Amino acid sequence: TELSKIRNFSIIAHIDHGKSTLADRLIQRTGGLTEREMQQQVLDNMDIERERGITIKAQTVRLEWKGCTLNLMDTPGHVDFAYEVSRSLAACEGALLVVDAAQGVEAQTLANVYQSIEHDHEIVPVINKIDLPAADTDKVKAEIEDIIGLDASNAVLTSAKSGIGIEEVLDAIVDRIPPPTGDRDAPLKAMLVDSWYDPYLGVVILVRVMEGTLKKGQQIKFMQAGTTHLVDRVGCFRPKLTQLEELGAGEIGFITAQIKEVAQTAVGDTITDARKPADKALPGFKEVQSVVFCGLFPVDANDFEKLRDSIGKLRLNDASFTFEMETSAALGFGFRCGFLGLLHLEIIQERLTREYDLDLITTAPSVVYHIELTHGAGHVELHNPADMPEPNKVETIAEPWIKAVIYVPDEYLGPILKLCQDRRGIQQNLTYVAGRAQVTYELPLNEVVFDFYDRLKSITRGYASFDYEQIGYREGDLVKMNILVNNEPVDALSMIVHRSQAEARGRHMCERLKDLIPRHMFKVPIQAAIGGKVIARETIAALRKDVTAKCYGGDITRKRKLLEKQKEGKKRMREYGNVSIPQEAFIAALRMG
Ligand code: GTP
Repeated sequence: TELSKIRNFSIIAHIDHGKSTLADRLIQRTGGLTEREMQQQVLDNMDIERERGITIKAQTVRLEWKGCTLNLMDTPGHVDFAYEVSRSLAACEGALLVVDAAQGVEAQTLANVYQSIEHDHEIVPVINKIDLPAADTDKVKAEIEDIIGLDASNAVLTSAKSGIGIEEVLDAIVDRIPPPTGDRDAPLKAMLVDSWYDPYLGVVILVRVMEGTLKKGQQIKFMQAGTTHLVDRVGCFRPKLTQLEELGAGEIGFITAQIKEVAQTAVGDTITDARKPADKALPGFKEVQSVVFCGLFPVDANDFEKLRDSIGKLRLNDASFTFEMETSAALGFGFRCGFLGLLHLEIIQERLTREYDLDLITTAPSVVYHIELTHGAGHVELHNPADMPEPNKVETIAEPWIKAVIYVPDEYLGPILKLCQDRRGIQQNLTYVAGRAQVTYELPLNEVVFDFYDRLKSITRGYASFDYEQIGYREGDLVKMNILVNNEPVDALSMIVHRSQAEARGRHMCERLKDLIPRHMFKVPIQAAIGGKVIARETIAALRKDVTAKCYGGDITRKRKLLEKQKEGKKRMREYGNVSIPQEAFIAALRMG
């Protein structure tokens, strides 16, 4: 395809503002499909997905409009995937910014918009859902201008739902977004934008060719990974998979090269011709690094193999989380897993629970601490509080900090500032736009990984949005706090806390556990301790009578039921220091409330 006839763009939108609906409309309009055919087609695709047991991950599609080829690049809408988003954006020359006419601009969209601006993108504002009675396009235009600083006078007004403004969007893409540049005859440089596993095709790689030409049968080299492969398919999605002979500079499409695992493909890697390689890789490559770690243990020890299997399967399609086996005195065999961020952790945990039907215990999420040992004994990267060296061996300990941008309606500002302050936050900025406040805080990531997000949502009844980026490591007065149940430390509950908060958190933890652990035949002390020093203590009183005593011995079925219920309860408990701790206690105890 001639370069001047190509447009590469992505869609930036807040969740629920109508990205998928608009994308479907663009496909429908350019494919000349009727609504019924469209539905049929979407259904067909879903059948394929169901049959194969996969979801077609990338929504990246090629559209034809008035003699131009438009490539719509999907971007993950998720703060933890900022790097993946940056690579998708680097593959485009422009973006549609979709804003809900009734909701206005949200903080999560801002991060992507700014990234898009950094990539010198031409951004076309699209105000969607103009059919809603609450739509206020003038207000939203003003927000786009005030908050983002984009000219919104020529924003395209749409109702993706009713099909209004769709042709205008397509025209705006052609007229306003610049075509890509590149030389088809130069040595090949293609960016690996995304990859996913398909049971029939193997690993499918989404690419943007920057320079040169990518052909079927070509011997290619991944410049970062250093591996070579033979290209066996080249193509694009329209939205159906269509095979092509080649992809030239400026084009977006996919290749397959008999690759078995996504772990062999790194997002942002440069693909070049193995025989005629480019001398320099494309800029911007970053190795994926886990930011948050936690232990995942099966509630039922017999599920360990099932958990191993399920984690392996998930990893086939998501190379961005890591895992290794872990043994815990409290929880038995499990895995220490690393994630890109908190939300990523939640996604994986939820998929394991839902799709693989596993009952899991998740230990306190932990960030990675950098520890300098005394007497120059070296540097340790700590992923698990249980492995913390003795206090006298620690010279300094540093923790990761983030810059968080919170966007919140005025009336909730007070409680949000308090929450940030409680979490050792340092306020950087506070501005008001259109009745809403935008607050910027620097916060220790450690303070955010527990329940910050939940708290934020509940304090603001869901009206706040939150976005963050990492800003590096800072030293802090951090200590390891152990929780002892019946005088034995429970490794899964140990955590690293700031000394100034140790006592409050220790007390809170003991109080929580007191309510969460059932009574036993003996007194059970619960303590929080730093080193040998107890900083908080609660005691669970001993149980007096047999539970079945209530049944007066008469009603035998009731008695049996009660016993069965107890047995059931047992299954979901963990024995520790002769004390049974229910599964829920582990999770509940970690919520700070
Ligand atoms: P995620 O897939 O969750 O990221 O959301 P999305 O941004 O892709 O939004 P989606 O297209 O799924 O739309 C969200 C909801 O808004 C759906 O219920 C749509 O039917 C609805 N919606 C989308 N466009 C319009 C519109 O123009 N008008 C109205 N009234 N509703 C719309």
